[in-house]
Amino acid sequence: MCGISGIVGSADVTKRLYSCMLNLEYRGYDSCGMAVLADGQIDVRKNIGRVAEVFEKERFAELSGTIGIAHSRWATHGNPTKANSHPHTSCDGRIAVVHNGIIGNYQPLKDELIAAGHKFTSETDTEVLAHLLEHNYKACGNFERSVREAMERMEGTYAFAALSADHPDTFFCGRNRSPLIIGIGKDANFIGSDIVAFIEYTKKVAYLNDNEYAIVSKDGFEIKNASTGKPQARAIDTVAWDAEQAKKGGYPHFLLKEIYEQPNALREALEIDEKKIEAVADIMNEADRTYLIGCGTTFYAALLAQYYFKEFAGVYAPAVSSDEFPNLCGVDERTAVLAISQSGETFDTLEALRYAKRHGAKTIAIVNALGSSMTREVDFVIMQGAGPEKSVLSTKAMTSQITVLTRIALELSKRRGALPKTELNEISDGLLELGTIVRSVLDEQPGFIRRIANRVGHFNKWLYIGRSYHLPAALEAALKLKEVTYIPAEGMAGGFMKHGPISLVDEEMAVVVLMPPPENEALHRSTFNSVSEMRSRGGKMIGIHFDPWESVFDEQIVLPKVHKALAPIPQLVVGQLLAYFMAILLKRDPDNPRGLAKSVTVE
Ligand code: M6R
Repeated sequence: MCGISGIVGSADVTKRLYSCMLNLEYRGYDSCGMAVLADGQIDVRKNIGRVAEVFEKERFAELSGTIGIAHSRWATHGNPTKANSHPHTSCDGRIAVVHNGIIGNYQPLKDELIAAGHKFTSETDTEVLAHLLEHNYKACGNFERSVREAMERMEGTYAFAALSADHPDTFFCGRNRSPLIIGIGKDANFIGSDIVAFIEYTKKVAYLNDNEYAIVSKDGFEIKNASTGKPQARAIDTVAWDAEQAKKGGYPHFLLKEIYEQPNALREALEIDEKKIEAVADIMNEADRTYLIGCGTTFYAALLAQYYFKEFAGVYAPAVSSDEFPNLCGVDERTAVLAISQSGETFDTLEALRYAKRHGAKTIAIVNALGSSMTREVDFVIMQGAGPEKSVLSTKAMTSQITVLTRIALELSKRRGALPKTELNEISDGLLELGTIVRSVLDEQPGFIRRIANRVGHFNKWLYIGRSYHLPAALEAALKLKEVTYIPAEGMAGGFMKHGPISLVDEEMAVVVLMPPPENEALHRSTFNSVSEMRSRGGKMIGIHFDPWESVFDEQIVLPKVHKALAPIPQLVVGQLLAYFMAILLKRDPDNPRGLAKSVTVE
């Protein structure tokens, strides 16, 4: 939820830390701060606001030193205030910490530390760590031991970095179920909650595992187990992403850039090694049941895949939102659980996977972020290769996930003999053409969609309607609109409308209909019935469809021909663009909607 970074090197670190903070701002952006150690003193600057604002307001540029830590926050414990911003310091100001996640037992620890005379200045759980380190350090005089002892006492999901004024050449960091990665540079070493923090400085990384801490200096790093204190060997990986990929590349917003990156992301998904796809199909084929899990957008990707597994492979693989998975689904050794996650760090999905593992299930994940926790916790992982996704709104990651899931469904179909070869080939060919179709939507439709957004931008109630495969796409398109514009928008099954929600429809409601292609006759007819029902109640009807002769809509976006089962994918792209242009019209921030964070690493 929050972004941690740290640097120790031979040159002044402030400018680099600032850039790390900007790169991690997507993880949280209600406040931020930096602590730099020089001449035996730690200088902390922090405040509420976006990184660039706080940088100016608090004159970060005045900070100078060769070691520092930084943080951008998404509030969990304590409101976004200056006092609650990180870094937090010990009573004597000689220890500073930044933290991501939640220290579950912070209240009893805080009570204990207050009783021992510590003075707290914030409402955060994080401040407990600063005082706990001070407390331990005063007792044993050894900072490393203090870190270990603190980790032994803290419960919950966390990653942290700590500076001690008595240790001008090293910082300490640790993790338990929250991401933390070490970057190994030429003249400096780094840490970050995500590789993108420091990717412009180094592509060499080492991953910290749960219950480990690291001591990082400019010349190297040492990783140790927090329970035993024993050194842990760690390989250094080189990541394939480059800094440019992680930047805006000339687009005004990451959201638009990432929407436009979809043809490439789809190509990458199609190029994932066949053997990996086959391995997942094998696992699913052998299991008694496979659950598909995800949150938000990835839940909708799972929901669409549920239709594909049923339709292509004759397999019922229920999609379940990760947060409800342990409450709803029994699992055992005969169960497979396939998780979908862009970040690989979503708390609910990680917890659902851990629950599945504890009960003996086989776990699989489709993940985009390199080196994320999920990639290391599941039995089998498929990396999407969609490249960094920085906008809070997930776009290219989702269409890429759907491509991967479709490939798995087709592979499973072969094992089950569920579809004739000709039909399988038609869908595979359709998948191969998808990148070109999405490219043509991106080339031809944006001006048109923008003009529609301008005409309908005053509507304050939105419905997105779809049936069958188009339902998950309708749910996702509604999510895109609501998360970036803050306009109430619901996705709904066409067939469900008449059971209550249709009473909402009047002249003040915009109704976006995701029509199936006409060749999907029965579905086309039933969706058309929904259109008539809503049109007769005065709704402003907006059609995303495939029939150039259609004339029933007030506004329409006509898409190129695509395989009927894959039709929701270009419709998703239209939904993304509509949400983007609505956000621009309403002067919302497309990359950082209020109150959201890119990866939701808390409960
Ligand atoms: O990183 P993940 O894919 O696991 O994230 C899951 C959701 O939090 C995420 O898709 C969220 O719904 C997005 N903001 C949607 O645009």
